[in-house]
Amino acid sequence: MLSNSLIELDRAHLVHPVASYRGHEKLGVRVLKSAKGATVTDMTGHQMIDGFAGLWCVNAGYGHESIVEAAAKQMRELPYATGYFSLGSEPAIRLASELADRAPGDLNHIYFTLGGSDAVDSTVRFIRYYYHSLGTPQKDQFISLEQGYHGSSTVGAGLTALPIFHAGFGLPFDWQHKIPSHYAYRNPVGADPHAIIASSVAALRAKIEEIGAERVAAFYVEPIQGSGGVLVPPRGWLKAMHEVCKEYDVLLVADEVITGFGRTGPLFACSEDDVVPDFITTAKGLTSGYVPMGAVFMSDRVYNVIADGAGAAAIGHGYTYSAHPVSAAVGLEVLRLYENGLLENGVKAGARLMAGLQSLADHPLVGDVRGRGMLAAIELVTDKHKKTPLPAAADPSRRIFDRAWENGLVIRAFGNGVLGYAPPLCCTESEIDALIERTRVTLDQTLEDPDVRAAMA
Ligand SMILES: Cc1ncc(COP(=O)(O)O)c(C=O)c1O
Repeated sequence: MLSNSLIELDRAHLVHPVASYRGHEKLGVRVLKSAKGATVTDMTGHQMIDGFAGLWCVNAGYGHESIVEAAAKQMRELPYATGYFSLGSEPAIRLASELADRAPGDLNHIYFTLGGSDAVDSTVRFIRYYYHSLGTPQKDQFISLEQGYHGSSTVGAGLTALPIFHAGFGLPFDWQHKIPSHYAYRNPVGADPHAIIASSVAALRAKIEEIGAERVAAFYVEPIQGSGGVLVPPRGWLKAMHEVCKEYDVLLVADEVITGFGRTGPLFACSEDDVVPDFITTAKGLTSGYVPMGAVFMSDRVYNVIADGAGAAAIGHGYTYSAHPVSAAVGLEVLRLYENGLLENGVKAGARLMAGLQSLADHPLVGDVRGRGMLAAIELVTDKHKKTPLPAAADPSRRIFDRAWENGLVIRAFGNGVLGYAPPLCCTESEIDALIERTRVTLDQTLEDPDVRAAMA
């Protein structure tokens, strides 16, 4: 009764992100009720392993009392403090300092946002201001990767390269350019890492020269492309792209909203590639999804140019909730948990996850297995040789998602038949094994679907 009325209320009033509104109205909401560790429970009492950590964000796992306590304590003491007018709060200052300590290279300046989209959006503003300060405002063209995702703000959605974020929104803007992804499984140059790196380097070079280096402001990249289908570049790819940026005096923005905070192993994935970008954007794992917060990391060089450029004038960029003390208190506690075992456990669990998914490679539907740490995907095909995607009629994003759900597993099922995994770092060995087993059952059931069978014939 209660859940039925919730479904009706949701249908009538709650607008869902990235959803077919009409499709959702028909389907109705599934209400999640509680969670602990890596397990989520819905309103009907059905329990599932959350193989996607909410939306690749609950890296610490659910139900940490110490995080709840940190938030409650801060709410009692000082629930809000603005950062405007040179005011501040202790947790925000401490979190900025702790993050700067751990960030690669000279990324010493932190601007807090509410999430990833406004972190990306903020970088665009900072970068424009930076070039204005340098006296080169004509450097106003931005490049990103096909299959990339950089959030859903008016500007960031144009850096994003997923069609549904553009169609009907008048995007991308004419100053937002794309180059092909490294997408190893479907790269026209094949899967050889050297060939992929050479081809991406050539594409970035060609795009910069086509636009004119004197016009190109920045290159945006996710160390691993998440929403595009968990696309993992070869080792050395990011570094090679950074070299091109440096050669043409183009700023590099590493969008680590998914890859940050242990998702691939360390706190920052770009450190694995030995790259110090000009900006890092983070969110999600920063607070493990317990409260909203994002952070832009800015290098000394960029910060100083902006600061000197403005002189005594205020730099007109700010949010009421930037550096929110409750979010910062949560961020500090989450960071403590990461460094007191969670990162370590994530590395172990990630190795088990990858080995488990590799063990599915000989399943008739599995064309590709890829990932790093606790970020992984399998790509389903009906013909391994031709790499034929699942037929659209198989509606993977609905049917496979629903099936996994019934089998006690939450995954990300992309429309093209890619299944994404980003479990909490706290997963035990038996939870990882169950995740693999439930995936296997889901794949076996999908193999029996008449439309999938027909496509394989
Ligand atoms: C790489 C990347 N950038 C930006 C965003 C946007 O973050 P948010 O949804 O918190 O606005 C996301 C979200 O998934 C992301 O994956």
